[in-house]
Amino acid sequence: MQSSFLILSLNSGVVIPGCAAMDVAPSTVSGYLDPTYWEERFSSEEHYEWLKDYSHFRHLLTPLLSPSLSVLELGCGNSRLSEELRQEGVADITCIDLASAAVERMKSRLSEKGISGIKVLVADMLDLPFQPETFDLVIEKGTMDVLFVDCGDPWNPNPTNVSKVMKMLEGIHKVLKQDGVYISISFGQPHFRRKFFEVPNFTWSVEYDKFGDGFHYFFYILKKGKRSLDYEKNQNIPSEMPSINLFQEELEGEDFLFRMVEDL
Ligand SMILES: C[S@@+](CC[C@H](N)C(=O)[O-])C[C@H]1O[C@@H](n2cnc3c(N)ncnc32)[C@H](O)[C@@H]1O
Repeated sequence: MQSSFLILSLNSGVVIPGCAAMDVAPSTVSGYLDPTYWEERFSSEEHYEWLKDYSHFRHLLTPLLSPSLSVLELGCGNSRLSEELRQEGVADITCIDLASAAVERMKSRLSEKGISGIKVLVADMLDLPFQPETFDLVIEKGTMDVLFVDCGDPWNPNPTNVSKVMKMLEGIHKVLKQDGVYISISFGQPHFRRKFFEVPNFTWSVEYDKFGDGFHYFFYILKKGKRSLDYEKNQNIPSEMPSINLFQEELEGEDFLFRMVEDL
């Protein structure tokens, strides 16, 4: 059992799960937006799974997998997600991260374990270096959440944060094949995420599921080319409001900047 903590960003409404040692966290949440923070962290940290590890959402992901898929993982850090996908039989996997320390560590780990079929590259998810329609599946776990750190009012995030989120989503939409799928595993609740996922230029449908005990995480499934023809009609329906329970969960933590949790 690994002890970890959640850093609660009171302004952004975003909770970022941190790691075992408090001194690994930046002094303020905006530190998560600083590439040097990640470089330093990955130069010493061997392994950490943000949000939850694969075993917690495997039941949601495996129905979408097949050995022939080409998969892109964004912001892989030192997570074992790509190894798990390889074990599920997925042959063509590319992982990117902005932090070269994470990429080097991942490459050595894979080579020590004799795992092939995973390409690991330094690349910026806001400027993806891939041709249009390259991947069947794009997946990220806790990576888009970083762009919401320090975003101000979560109902009305800062334009700078919004433009980065949109850049990321536009890039993902572009590199997905016509019937490709984007999976976002996130702390962000649907009322904060849907408005970005559902902008008119995107042809994907948006569905989600939840996982986790007590504290819930969201598993978004965006299927390119599957947007319902009824979508524009549905725009008149008021956007989903957070349930009292969800807000209550957040408010209970409001007195604490750091909240202790246990990760299995
Ligand atoms: C919260 S961690 C998630 C790591 C991993 N996905 C996991 O589940 O454990 C965010 C990751 O995104 C990476 N990252 C941040 N900004 C990025 C960018 N613009 N392009 C690519 N990776 C980025 C960080 O280096 C870090 O590895």
